[in-house]
Amino acid sequence: MSSILINNLGAQIQKQCCNYFLFRRRSPWTLVCGLLLFAVGLISLFTGHVVSDLEWYSHRLVHRTWYYKKISLCLMQCRIEFIMLRLTYGNQSFQTFIMVAAIEALILHSLGHSVESSSSRLSPVRERLSKGYLLIATSGGLNQQRTGITDAVVVARILNATLVVPELDHQSYWKDESDFLNIFDVDWFISYLAKDVPIVKRVPEKVMRSMDKPPYTMRVPRKSEPDYYLEQVLPILMRRRVLQLTKFDYRLANDLDEDLQKLRCRVNYHALRFTKPIRNLGQRLVTRMRKMAKRFIAVHLRFEPDMLAFSGCYYGGGDKERHELGEIRKRWETLPESSPDEERTRGKCPLTPHEVGLLLRALDFDNNTYLYVASGEIYGGEETLRPLKELFPNFYTKEMLAGEELKPLLPFSSRLAAIDYIVCDESDVFVTNNNGNMAKILAGRR
Ligand SMILES: *[C@@H]1O[C@H](CO)[C@@H](O)[C@H](O)[C@H]1NC(C)=O
Ligand SMILES: *[C@@H]1O[C@H](CO)[C@@H](O)[C@H](O)[C@H]1NC(C)=O
Ligand SMILES: *[C@@H]1O[C@H](CO)[C@@H](O)[C@H](O)[C@H]1NC(C)=O
Repeated sequence: MSSILINNLGAQIQKQCCNYFLFRRRSPWTLVCGLLLFAVGLISLFTGHVVSDLEWYSHRLVHRTWYYKKISLCLMQCRIEFIMLRLTYGNQSFQTFIMVAAIEALILHSLGHSVESSSSRLSPVRERLSKGYLLIATSGGLNQQRTGITDAVVVARILNATLVVPELDHQSYWKDESDFLNIFDVDWFISYLAKDVPIVKRVPEKVMRSMDKPPYTMRVPRKSEPDYYLEQVLPILMRRRVLQLTKFDYRLANDLDEDLQKLRCRVNYHALRFTKPIRNLGQRLVTRMRKMAKRFIAVHLRFEPDMLAFSGCYYGGGDKERHELGEIRKRWETLPESSPDEERTRGKCPLTPHEVGLLLRALDFDNNTYLYVASGEIYGGEETLRPLKELFPNFYTKEMLAGEELKPLLPFSSRLAAIDYIVCDESDVFVTNNNGNMAKILAGRR
């Protein structure tokens, strides 16, 4: 019964999104959009937007922005980038997120241009003029730390400070000993951002020795505005020369001036590049998927026990599940008594692997479709995954594709997450049962 309902719903969704856009390559719309844009460009050229050559050059920047607006408009018309689905069956609802990629090349091209365009850069701060050294300790899993690193660069820019390569979190739930240079290409990071912010690997000995006290440590409130940094943080930085900001996640406001937002994009989408061994292994897995299937879906499943306990939902595992998740939930003292039915009715419960499978089948992906499943620990393990595997027998994970090659990475959850990130990024369709950091960062990148 419920699966019929989901099927009908799937058909509706499919009609709305239209089939063309479910795959990234070989979409005739790429061409159509390209031509459309070309036509729009031509028309604009002949309708007085460009009065003279001289003006054309002097207004090139303005014109370019305008042109990108056109691109985005066209993209909005011909594709759906990241859809949040709210499904209802029986009297329950779920949320899930599907990202559909069709004409990425255009977006990347346009974004790449505006992000790269050197005229948009603020003039660089020279290290000599720097107000001091900013130490940053990030927090959370790989992708949460990634947002922290991105904001760290922007904060250094706001303060005219020299950034010391951020320290990664070794204490989080994910327990990974890796340092920045084990995951990201640190030299690339420094050189890519050289024109924006001076970055050094460590505070120079000379400065360390000249300090009479250890570096001042503070934690700023969530989503602080640039003014907060200028008023509260800068004076301390100038007095102490070296300042550490701890638990640095989401510490900078979302809305910033355009130049700073562009800097965010440069950091996140260009300067942060995984190390060569990680990139190579990720790419090998992509090649192996493509050898088996021309197109594949990447499913990012988060189904760890602690995440499920935190959600306060019920996933059908009977008293055993209620007890186990209930025990874990006690870790968070401030959480209210859970009300699973209510959460589900509000659509707040992540889809189970089985439900993700039903959703994909309802969207008409047949049992020959190849799935790459990116996940960490799955509550209930194989038993939880079995229904999804039955719906999609061509089911692959990094463990299955890499075998021995993955061994050196096994103790490092962040490096494993990086491999999943690469394969998900390269997939034709990306589906996730959560709207966490990885899904958001991938949506932005794709
Ligand atoms: C949802 O269905 C269950 C039975 O499956 C029922 O007990 C419950 O009252 C229903 N909730 C709502 C809000 O209709
Ligand atoms: C940073 O440097 C620029 C010029 O390089 C200057 O205009 C700006 O006021 C400085 N900001 C701070 C906080 O020192
Ligand atoms: C898909 O389903 C059909 C029948 O429904 C079956 O014959 C076929 O073997 C299945 N394919 C896979 C890969 O399991």
